[in-house]
Amino acid sequence: MIKYLTDTVDYLKNKGFENPEVGIILGTGLGQLINEVEIEQEVSYNHIPNFPTATVEFHKGKLVYGSLAGKKVVVMQGRFHVYEGYSLLDVTYPVRVMEQLGIKSLLVSNAAGAIDLNFNKGEIMIIDDHINLQGGSPLAFHGVEKYGERFVDMSAPYDQDLIKKVEKIATDNSIDIHKGVYASVVGPQLETRAEYRYLKTIGADAVGMSTVPEVIVANHLKLKVLALSVLTDECDPDNLKPIDINEIIAMAAKAEPHMITLFKELIKQL
Ligand code: HPA
Repeated sequence: MIKYLTDTVDYLKNKGFENPEVGIILGTGLGQLINEVEIEQEVSYNHIPNFPTATVEFHKGKLVYGSLAGKKVVVMQGRFHVYEGYSLLDVTYPVRVMEQLGIKSLLVSNAAGAIDLNFNKGEIMIIDDHINLQGGSPLAFHGVEKYGERFVDMSAPYDQDLIKKVEKIATDNSIDIHKGVYASVVGPQLETRAEYRYLKTIGADAVGMSTVPEVIVANHLKLKVLALSVLTDECDPDNLKPIDINEIIAMAAKAEPHMITLFKELIKQL
């Protein structure tokens, strides 16, 4: 699939996706940032040549190009997940496309469960580090070295300068913010009580079903990465109630204004 990148990128450039500086991936229930973008172009994923959905029925997702906080951005409204049946290469293909379009930084949002019980639902966590529990790597393919190094350094996958900027923006805007380790699982089932205990033991502060594959590829391509988790539920194995996915989506929407402020102010400073 990667060998078809040029076709995808040429199609988008012809559509006017010219020289975006920043790429943004919006997570579950976190689509409202798009209302802040002065949109110049938008294309449904299933119209983009070689995009993972080109052959699959998928109506919602689209790629948007425009200006946000004075910068040209390309926004993924909706992402691909391994739990939908996509491969790790499919899930990360759009990151390679955005890099070829010209982005230098990638901002990512997701919804996650709080493993650290000092964190409350509705709050935001800056991802400082991650644990890949997706059972594979988006870099494990023949010819990966044509696109970057094979043995990609992961000593600091999230840009420390961007993290400091977001912490300052949060303080200036009285937004409660945490920093921690995000564990990425395949899903789509939620975790058992034993799995939540395990995640805590191995050092996770939050758990979700996305982000890490895209961040690995962003590091392969030497993009600067900043990722925020909206904490949508509290994963207390000793008091675990059945999780309702609609509650998770509603909680993400509640925290969204804060996430929008953080992203917008950060983009101004890039
Ligand atoms: N587990 C996994 N993914 C999630 C959760 C969770 O508790 N909450 C939101 N996404």
